[in-house]
Amino acid sequence: MNRTFTMIKPDATSKGYTGAILDHIIKAGFSVKAMKWTKLTVEQAGQFYEVHKERPFYGELVAFMSSGPIVAAILEKDNAVADFRKLIGATNPAQAEEGTIRKKFAASMGENAVHGSDSDENAQIEGNFFFAATERF
Ligand code: RTP
Ligand code: MG
Repeated sequence: MNRTFTMIKPDATSKGYTGAILDHIIKAGFSVKAMKWTKLTVEQAGQFYEVHKERPFYGELVAFMSSGPIVAAILEKDNAVADFRKLIGATNPAQAEEGTIRKKFAASMGENAVHGSDSDENAQIEGNFFFAATERF
């Protein structure tokens, strides 16, 4: 078994999609190891997406990710990172496959409903960003 990290982004929480997205994730075979409803400060959003600091969309991304509540979670499954990326679909929902979370729930490239870690190493770093050892079960 391995683990990935996800966030349900502010566009999806504000549209009331949280429950439907969690249902989708759990029905796809992921189990929840940690979860919280929280809101990122501008500083936290900037730190989380620091890898994109030099990209033209960074300011917009940080503003959006700190604009409303999110759900952060650590998920477990065989092949968790790759399978979760497959489940959420392409970054741009217009290019996401039918049946993926972004196809169903995302409005645009900038506001694309969910985050999924892109490697085992980043899954661990991102999980540690949000959760103490005592918050994982
Ligand atoms: P995420 O990290 O949120 O799961 O998204 P991702 O891996 O599919 O995409 P990534 O390349 O890591 O980009 C992070 C977020 O930045 C926004 N973005 N905008 N306008 C653009 O060209 C552009 N490229 C990326 C997206 O909201 C993306 O989710
Ligand atoms: Mg990414």
